[in-house]
Amino acid sequence: MNPADIALLVELLKRRTGIALNPAKTHLIESRLTPVARQFGFRKADALLRDLLRHGREAMWRAATEALTTNDTWFFRDRAPFEQFRDAVLPVLALRRAATRKLRIWCCAVSTGQEVYSLAMLLQETPLLAEGWDIELIATDLNSQSIARAREGLYTSYEVQRGLGIRRLITYFNQEGDKWRIAGRLGRMIQFRTFNLLDDAGWVGTVDAVFCRNVLIYFEEPVKARVLDRLAGTLAEDGYLITGNAEMPDKVVPFFEALPGRRGLYAVTRPAFMLVSGTY
Ligand SMILES: C[S@@+](CC[C@H](N)C(=O)[O-])C[C@H]1O[C@@H](n2cnc3c(N)ncnc32)[C@H](O)[C@@H]1O
Repeated sequence: MNPADIALLVELLKRRTGIALNPAKTHLIESRLTPVARQFGFRKADALLRDLLRHGREAMWRAATEALTTNDTWFFRDRAPFEQFRDAVLPVLALRRAATRKLRIWCCAVSTGQEVYSLAMLLQETPLLAEGWDIELIATDLNSQSIARAREGLYTSYEVQRGLGIRRLITYFNQEGDKWRIAGRLGRMIQFRTFNLLDDAGWVGTVDAVFCRNVLIYFEEPVKARVLDRLAGTLAEDGYLITGNAEMPDKVVPFFEALPGRRGLYAVTRPAFMLVSGTY
């Protein structure tokens, strides 16, 4: 593929999604675009790319963009963030929200859904639901195909083996042929939606916690800051942010504070009314 075309693709992808791809990764780009090329009647990725850059048709852009995202995920990924959430965050939120008995949690780059279903399982294992708490989970991702899969909640044997023990598999899934479908009671806790983190998140409303894991790593600093500003704007004044281990929001913006001894767990320190969107 032509290096100038790749450079332009990389630039336009960054503007659309924030994802900063390395233009030197020609093979990766080519292998991800080849199925999209076939889908739109081209034999090879370079023909697709030329057409994309010349005519810029939206359906093609969307398909190419989605193909260029990295969607790898698994149930209870890294374990500790989920255990920390259960042991350190939920008890605090349960006390603070005792009057309303209402919790809202947003997984903002959920890929194919394993992260939010892990959270739903974990919540099922606390007494909160039995005590009548209203718990709403919002699950979004840029990739509409990933969101469609997440909403469907049907996983292969390989996918359920990644991170799930037999007890949870039996408790929360029903076998369908050689696949496994998530139980309806978990799905009903979750609202799924395609959403780009660069867009206005006003529709989300106020949430008590945001899981934003393993997506900031794809962004350059100014984009990270802009996204973190948006996330802080959706968080309650005493809300929490949960990131991937390698992502350190407190090094990017001044309004998230790492909780001592906890990896990837942050408290928002700036009250929402002080946040001016677009500052970062
Ligand atoms: C590696 S997956 C992480 C999935 C999950 N959070 C986890 O930690 O296992 C990264 C996800 O970020 C999504 N993503 C990338 N850029 C995005 C953007 N601008 N807005 C929303 N989601 C985005 C991708 O589509 C992909 O599903």
